[in-house]
Amino acid sequence: MTEATIDRPREQWGTRAGFLLAAIGSAVGLGNIWRFPKEAYDNGGGAFMVPYLIALLSAGIPLLIFEYAVGHRARASAPRAMRRLGRPAAFVGWWQVGICFFIATYYAVILAWAVRYVGFSLDKSWGSDPASFFQKDFLQVADAPAILGAFVPGVLWPLVGIWVVALVVLALGVKRGIELANKVFIPLLLILFGILVVRALLLPGAAEGLNALFTPDWSAITDGKVWRSAYGQIFFSLSVGFGIMVTYSSYLKRKADLTGSALVAGFANSAFEILAGIGVFATLGFMALQAQVPIDEVVKGGTGLAFIAFPQIISELSGGSSLFGVLFFGSLLLAGVTSLISIVEVIVAAVQDRTGLGRVPAVLAVGGATAAVSIAFFPTENGLYILDAVDHFINAYGIVLAALAALVIATYVLRILPLLQGHVDAVSSFRIGKLWLVLLGVVTPAMLIWMSVDSLLSEFKENYSGYSTDFLLAAGWGVAGAALLFGVGMSLIPGRRGRDEAGPDSPGPDAEPNSQEVTA
Ligand code: ALA
Repeated sequence: MTEATIDRPREQWGTRAGFLLAAIGSAVGLGNIWRFPKEAYDNGGGAFMVPYLIALLSAGIPLLIFEYAVGHRARASAPRAMRRLGRPAAFVGWWQVGICFFIATYYAVILAWAVRYVGFSLDKSWGSDPASFFQKDFLQVADAPAILGAFVPGVLWPLVGIWVVALVVLALGVKRGIELANKVFIPLLLILFGILVVRALLLPGAAEGLNALFTPDWSAITDGKVWRSAYGQIFFSLSVGFGIMVTYSSYLKRKADLTGSALVAGFANSAFEILAGIGVFATLGFMALQAQVPIDEVVKGGTGLAFIAFPQIISELSGGSSLFGVLFFGSLLLAGVTSLISIVEVIVAAVQDRTGLGRVPAVLAVGGATAAVSIAFFPTENGLYILDAVDHFINAYGIVLAALAALVIATYVLRILPLLQGHVDAVSSFRIGKLWLVLLGVVTPAMLIWMSVDSLLSEFKENYSGYSTDFLLAAGWGVAGAALLFGVGMSLIPGRRGRDEAGPDSPGPDAEPNSQEVTA
């Protein structure tokens, strides 16, 4: 019997806490530490919290429950689980695999920068001009964006290291690799980040920073862009729309509290995000006080905030400043590694289901291929430009549209939401009721359609970040389109021995009839 025809029992999480830590580890990432503070500040400060919380409750947590239900019911990777909802949904799962592939390629690079900045913090290598150090000395950014460029060895070797760590964890499996890594990294992250926030709050000027973050600008709430940002932030930050939660919940035992887990993971992620906002803005308040400038002059975008503003702050701190840098970049690294692992697991699980490959060969093949693309394009003098374009387009026209497609197909084409509701209610601690159907069937799709149209219109008004059309066609539209085409193409290739075609009510052949009914 060849390897491709052997059906292995599906891997499982060791404990419910292990699954929850992995779900939280996936959610808490770069999005929480460097994306949220800036999004909140740019979009009305305290007033942002209203659309943010509405997005969390109306779309984030209901979608988390949807993804848990799809994965848990089918006990399969995203493509196969979506296929088991019905044929029209099949392309969505592979689309998400394509999206995860592109996200993983650039996500790992930011972690490679963080590795180097842990070291740079020790002797404040950035000197008196952190901006010039980051762009010229460290990244050696080219004058104009292009796709191919010279390698930058200082980014290349930590990137290889990040990929080795991620692939080793994945190769060790769900319980011995992913679960164990999260059990170590997440508590460590909480300790490091907790110390950082306390230290930040004790800085002079911290209160001013917090005022800037939390003073509501109520006029922002009528601005469509603010709502779009809130929904976008919730999607990225909760890791919904990637297929990650479908994959992770497929490793749960039969009896699993899906609603309880979604609430815990959703609120834990937002709590960490708000904590990050407090820590970052307390620090920016300090910086504004030192420079005697208003705080909006020191608030920069994600990259600028983490790799330019923070180094500058570290230089201005008296005693213990190296520790501050190690804590900040170490937190970024820990938070990001657990998210990267979850993103690549979507691809590994999908390929295992499709080919029947064992975990180690699957990790080596597809994890290796993802790493190879990441290493070929990003640690170069053009890496920063490509990263910026891919990040923008794959988020706006990948994650969000894939989630929209899944909801519209499930609600209006397959009419399968009530069945999923029944599945969730049968295994969970509390019932989700009709409200869930209305939120996922009407409110969230309407919001996502409006968001996408609004965002497309702005795309045609001016080129994103002022990049040339040729560059955006390759690194922006090209990448987002390639993920979709990959999804459609893969869904047209027949699966193995009809295994993907199990009916919508069937948990699928991967379900273990004799698996113990243990509360997971
Ligand atoms: N949810 C992950 C993050 O916030 C992808 O970075």
